[in-house]
Amino acid sequence: MRPVDTPTVVNPLREGLGAERTPDPCTMVIFGASGDLTRRKLLPALYNLALDGLLPDKFSIAGFARSDMTVEQFREQALESVRQFSRRPVDPKSWDRFARGLFYASAGSLKTDDFHRLAELMARVHRERDTGGNRVFYLSVPPSAYSGIVEGLGTSGLAARAAAGSGWARVIVEKPFGRDLDTARELNQELAQVFAEEQVYRIDHFLGKETVQNILVFRFANGIFEPIWNRRYIDHVQITAAESLGIEGRAGYYEEAGALRDMVQNHMLQVLSLVGMEPPIAFEARAVRDEKVKVLRAIRPLLGEDVARYTARGQYGPGWVDGREVPGYRQEPNVDPASTTETFAALKLYVDNWRWAEVPFYLRTGKRLPKQTTEVAIHFKRAPLLLFRDMVDPTPLESNVLAMRIQPNEGITLKFHAKVPGISVRIRSVNMDFLYGASFAVEPPEAYETLILDCLLGDSTLFARRDEIEAAWSLVTDVLNGWRELPSPVFPNYEAGSWGPREAQDLMARDGRRWRRP
Ligand code: BG6
Repeated sequence: MRPVDTPTVVNPLREGLGAERTPDPCTMVIFGASGDLTRRKLLPALYNLALDGLLPDKFSIAGFARSDMTVEQFREQALESVRQFSRRPVDPKSWDRFARGLFYASAGSLKTDDFHRLAELMARVHRERDTGGNRVFYLSVPPSAYSGIVEGLGTSGLAARAAAGSGWARVIVEKPFGRDLDTARELNQELAQVFAEEQVYRIDHFLGKETVQNILVFRFANGIFEPIWNRRYIDHVQITAAESLGIEGRAGYYEEAGALRDMVQNHMLQVLSLVGMEPPIAFEARAVRDEKVKVLRAIRPLLGEDVARYTARGQYGPGWVDGREVPGYRQEPNVDPASTTETFAALKLYVDNWRWAEVPFYLRTGKRLPKQTTEVAIHFKRAPLLLFRDMVDPTPLESNVLAMRIQPNEGITLKFHAKVPGISVRIRSVNMDFLYGASFAVEPPEAYETLILDCLLGDSTLFARRDEIEAAWSLVTDVLNGWRELPSPVFPNYEAGSWGPREAQDLMARDGRRWRRP
């Protein structure tokens, strides 16, 4: 998250908002430069940053991947990716300028010689582009390659911390960051042998979403919500990340991951920590992350029988989504026809601290649900309704809900009750709505744009710290272990296009509550 500098006024709805800071000149080395993530997200994000004039003049990208390619071929491939995936069309002039900063070397099998070759390439780039020796290493490779790369960066000296005149070095690590607590710890340990913690940027793209960042602004830039943001007024919280998409050809990854590792350990627990944290003493990386990790540590572990009582898992069978017939998970290409991987997970969590004692946080995420929607819904306690007990047509009044829509239709809705116009007293729920689109009339940057720029600026507020990752894995690993000990569920147990398995509804029903229809 970047502080603002001088005012620029273009869009009247953004009047008074400031211009951005520009990072130091530097080179970004992308490991896995010909991979999917680089094509779909990284290159388009970098190009859009360039288009907005947010990259330094001599910014350079050194692609490093197995494929044998010339620089020209890499530039051609990059142009193709940007054409296909950029949120804005390619502008030939700015593309030429951007493409001049693209370089490439073949990574071979990442042996010592390969790192020497990378060092030579970087030295050349630094010389030709005057990047001051500053470097960011982006690990956009399968996790199995992380260790070798980190070690290679260490032994080759490429990762060395800022020494006089040699510039700074940072590393961005993609998800999945481990597959349980032990492997996450191991990876943290390997990173710590080569990099200092402040050089490490563990990316969680949810934290780059405007609406996720806005949770902090909403809570701490307004005076009226914080006094009621606690157990006295809040009945429970629901966090939903529903996807209508299936696994999109990612069986190799997803079969090993499942919904809990794929969405809950990272994105959903990050969102929960922003909703639940105490006000930080400053808006900077250390203070914000100190408060977030306290929330994660305060979550009551799910052990023994609580795993069955407080969690539900599901896997979709065939069904209909968006008017289209879709196969079940087990029929997806390259998925084991007897797979027990969960594509849906729901959890009930307690944050055991003074603010949240006994307020349940319900989390659910799933693939092939009826719609694509992510939201945080704060359900307030009911008002004492005795006053309106004798009204005509008494309909049971629901509680007030504050819904923060992360995506799509980004915005915030407050649901409250109002008198239906007429002679008698009848009450209905109405909505008060804030929509980003209507209020600001700008297209927000992609999460990767925000996060890459933050890393170039050396701001790690929106990246997960080592202790956060481990606290989240500790919780999730308990659930994974608990699930392993329970009898295997009968999968598939929900139809594609439905809101998940019966067990998830039961989890709520046991508490006399139900999931909100987002
Ligand atoms: C990724 C998961 O981290 O997040 C995907 O691996 C998921 O399975 C995606 O679809 C959701 O992100 P977004 O930004 O599309 O909501």
